[in-house]
Amino acid sequence: MDRAIISNLAYLVAAALFIVGLKGLTHPRSAVRGNLLGAVGMLLAVVVTLLQQEILGFEVILAGILIGSLVGAVLALRIQMTAMPQLVGLFNGFGGAASVLVAGAVLVQAIAAVTAAATVSLQFTVATAASGLIGAVTFFGSLVAFGKLQGLVTERPIRYPGEQIVKLLVLLTALVFGVLVVRDPADTNLYWYLVAAGSLLGILLVIAIGGADMPIVIALLNSYSGLAAAATGFVLSNNILIIAGSLVGASGIILTQIMCRAMNRSLANVLFGGVGAVIEDARQDDIYAGKVTATSAEEVAMILKTARRVVFVPGYGMAVARAQTPVRLLTELMEKDGIEVEFGIHPVAGRMPGHMNVLLAEENISYDKLCEMDQINPSFPQTDVTIVLGANDVVNPIARQTSGNPIAGMPILDVDKSRTVVVIKRSLAAGFAGIPNPLFAADNTLMLFGDGKKAMDELVAAYKEA
Ligand code: TAP
Repeated sequence: MDRAIISNLAYLVAAALFIVGLKGLTHPRSAVRGNLLGAVGMLLAVVVTLLQQEILGFEVILAGILIGSLVGAVLALRIQMTAMPQLVGLFNGFGGAASVLVAGAVLVQAIAAVTAAATVSLQFTVATAASGLIGAVTFFGSLVAFGKLQGLVTERPIRYPGEQIVKLLVLLTALVFGVLVVRDPADTNLYWYLVAAGSLLGILLVIAIGGADMPIVIALLNSYSGLAAAATGFVLSNNILIIAGSLVGASGIILTQIMCRAMNRSLANVLFGGVGAVIEDARQDDIYAGKVTATSAEEVAMILKTARRVVFVPGYGMAVARAQTPVRLLTELMEKDGIEVEFGIHPVAGRMPGHMNVLLAEENISYDKLCEMDQINPSFPQTDVTIVLGANDVVNPIARQTSGNPIAGMPILDVDKSRTVVVIKRSLAAGFAGIPNPLFAADNTLMLFGDGKKAMDELVAAYKEA
């Protein structure tokens, strides 16, 4: 059989593995298998590509694999769980940069090979321009997103007069260079001017967005990195790169939509609204003054002992404190006493999709106990105690208002409907949205102030004593 047919058949198998793998990732139980299937598909695609092309020497490729693997392994091992969004952001950025460089290199090579009889096609030049533009936006946008989340660049949205016009002008400049690349591919300098304009656009787009919205931006840039890769697939006439890039592009945009919907924001509002890092503490005193009841681990342990149903609602603070181990220990102790324990998981609790699920899965807490918002909300009135651990915005009743605050209209976990709510956090400080939370001042709420891990450890000890 023809070599090209064999490799295309192998690519088809790889594509099927990607799709089945993605399907597996939709449920925690099948996620590990899904991940493995996707990885096998990618290995097959890489091996087939290496065998199929006329590669002159493998030395440089091997050196690239070795250096890349080393850098990736060191980064992945050293990064804190809470810094995962920026690591993912950086990886997206590298994908964009790879597209820019590969498309540029192929353009230079193709122009060198142009003769009177063999010219470059329109598809090739359009795809090259698209790779350069989208790849550059992705790389520089991701670097700014990384910088914002890592505290290297100010978290505040950088706004200035005429901002949208400046961005529009840079976009138009980039598009003009794109058209010029298509019209006159022989002038390869035009490609690099296009990349420069795209890079500036990436920076301008992302510095205008608050650090708080960066996880959504990262999901969007993830989608862009896929589109850039798909365009590079057309540059190289490589089917599997087109398929894999399109899958990343589509899944990234779906994830972006899910995140926006869960926060009740539109994508346009995230990209151009400049919300985030807005701290509004003027009304704090009105809400909290004299109404907050502090409690102790011992008192909470006594209340838990008499409960029949307890719900944990974890949030970003559980991740920061790494408090999931005592959560599991207390769950086991309560279940031994016949108490029904479940977990209410808000879709945007924490700072990345599935953040809470990953942390609780680390502790082997059964998936059956992890309930989504719609599933658990009707059960709060029958819940004796809800323990809100390091969560804030996702349980803030202010969200029920239809306007007037950054989370207005966001669906929340109705913890305030339980008989007793115990909130574990260090202070009355606001969460991500920067607004006070009337739940902390409610009659049925007890505040257990302290670091999440320390407070949970004390609660486990007190429960054993009670
Ligand atoms: P937040 O509203 O951000 O509140 C977290 C709370 O954890 C803070 O109020 C903080 O209070 C507490 N905390 C911090 N460190 C702690 C520690 N060591 N021990 C105990 N508590 C600690 O968190 P949430 O309820 O999970 O809501 C998530 C927010 O992030 C939402 O507004 C959501 O829209 C946004 N967001 C989420 C995502 C995704 S995909 N998950 C993406 C972008 C944005 P103290 O300082 O008083 O301790």
